[in-house]
Amino acid sequence: MSRVIIYKSKTGHTERYAKMLSEELDIPCYSYKEAKVSDNDEVIFLSYIYASKIMGLSKALNKYNIKAIIAVGALAYSKDYVNTLKQTNNIDKPFFYLRGGIDYSKLNFIFRKFLPIIGKDIAKDDKELLNLFKNGGDFVTKDSLKDVINHLK
Ligand SMILES: Cc1cc2nc3c(=O)[nH]c(=O)nc-3n(C[C@H](O)[C@H](O)[C@H](O)COP(=O)(O)O)c2cc1C
Repeated sequence: MSRVIIYKSKTGHTERYAKMLSEELDIPCYSYKEAKVSDNDEVIFLSYIYASKIMGLSKALNKYNIKAIIAVGALAYSKDYVNTLKQTNNIDKPFFYLRGGIDYSKLNFIFRKFLPIIGKDIAKDDKELLNLFKNGGDFVTKDSLKDVINHLK
């Protein structure tokens, strides 16, 4: 039995985390579309969050033997947020949240137009978040993977 990483990523943050993890754990890493997985492989699944939903998770759970789930979003890490995500996405497996970012240059016209508006509502008085939804930002760091690596090594 071997382990593989499968990821979904729209604008690259999740892909970068997946590749860092692949290097760190020395196991292969595939995008969801290109996944090469044997029946008894253990899968570490990474995907991005849209509207509190971990995209592609339900399908992946039906298809693969998933041993850990890693969600990537724009909001700052907090235990409350992790619990909310676990509940909203019905997660009963090892779960980690990593902060990605917002890259407006890679989003389509609709999201470029509406995310700053929705973001204002989400950010409320949080200046850092307001700035993120206005201008975009990148929070991907190798350091953020520490807990994931400790759990999976
Ligand atoms: C339409 C839309 C909805 C989003 N909803 C959330 C959300 O509910 N929670 C969150 O933390 N981030 C949210 N984000 C931010 C993305 O999860 C973030 O940009 C993530 O880094 C994208 O990963 P990717 O670059 O691998 O595609 C949203 C982004 C978009 C465009």
